[in-house]
Amino acid sequence: MSKNILEVSNLQILDSLTGKKLVHDSTFQLAHGSCLGIVGESGSGKSLTCRAISRLNKAGLRQSGGIRLGEVQLAELSEREMRNIRGRQICMIVQNGMRAFDPSSVIGVHLRETLTRHFGWSRAEIITRMKASMESVMLKDPISVMNSYPHQLSGGMLQRVMIALALVMEPDVIIADEPTTALDTLSQFEVIEQFVQLRARIGSSVIFVTHDLGIVRKIADEVIVMKDGIIVEQGPTHDIFARPKHEYTRCLVSTRAALNQHFKEIMGGVSHTDC
Ligand SMILES: Nc1ncnc2c1ncn2[C@@H]1O[C@H](COP(=O)(O)OP(=O)(O)OP(=O)(O)O)[C@@H](O)[C@H]1O
Ligand SMILES: [Mg+2]
Repeated sequence: MSKNILEVSNLQILDSLTGKKLVHDSTFQLAHGSCLGIVGESGSGKSLTCRAISRLNKAGLRQSGGIRLGEVQLAELSEREMRNIRGRQICMIVQNGMRAFDPSSVIGVHLRETLTRHFGWSRAEIITRMKASMESVMLKDPISVMNSYPHQLSGGMLQRVMIALALVMEPDVIIADEPTTALDTLSQFEVIEQFVQLRARIGSSVIFVTHDLGIVRKIADEVIVMKDGIIVEQGPTHDIFARPKHEYTRCLVSTRAALNQHFKEIMGGVSHTDC
């Protein structure tokens, strides 16, 4: 068995209307049970890359290259086969929880539809499993959460519902595209803690997109740095922080270090961040 659960080779994404290349020739791997961080400025192609893996990019975008999940080349699958992979083997956790759920149904309906489709479980079994999972991510009163519409829950709660669902689904790969950006600092911290536990408990491999280098340092084993649709640097997290090779990465790392130093100075020498 390969040590990689996911291998992306020479991924290209083009805007078929203008012919503009949005992602150039990306090649990277995700090892079994590891976490790959993707960082890069806004518009650098991080979300396009994530959606390309699940084949969820808009019809106007054309993608080519290989995406191998386990032994399966995803490009060769029919849309129906791909739907079975989504959720069951690849779970996406997105930035805006509100968009991930149907606004006209209560959360429980979404959970039942997803879990019945993939596992054929009964309603009672779904409620029992989701209740336990929600409690484990510190969602209080799971039954009332299941009976709520998305707009009745906070961003942090919706994020936790997605993580609780991923815990029940036990996918091979979790793709989290800036899952904490819309949250306040305390919720961000708690959601990251849940991710760390989720990996420890179900051993999923994770792709984690973020602007926050502190988060990358905390949870990623390997890092990809993207700029203008190109992977400018990739490698083990420790190496990227200790010896950034590309000018852009050096700039990212030194900006963070400078911010941290400034923070230390205004706090009188006490730093609350971890790098
Ligand atoms: N459907 C589309 N059609 C044409 N261009 C698109 C489409 N979706 C995204 N793009 C362009 O592709 C580029 C990469 O977009 P992408 O959303 O992947 O960036 P990102 O790195 O995720 O940025 P952010 O950090 O802001 O989320 C951007 O220039 C964007 O304008
Ligand atoms: Mg994005």
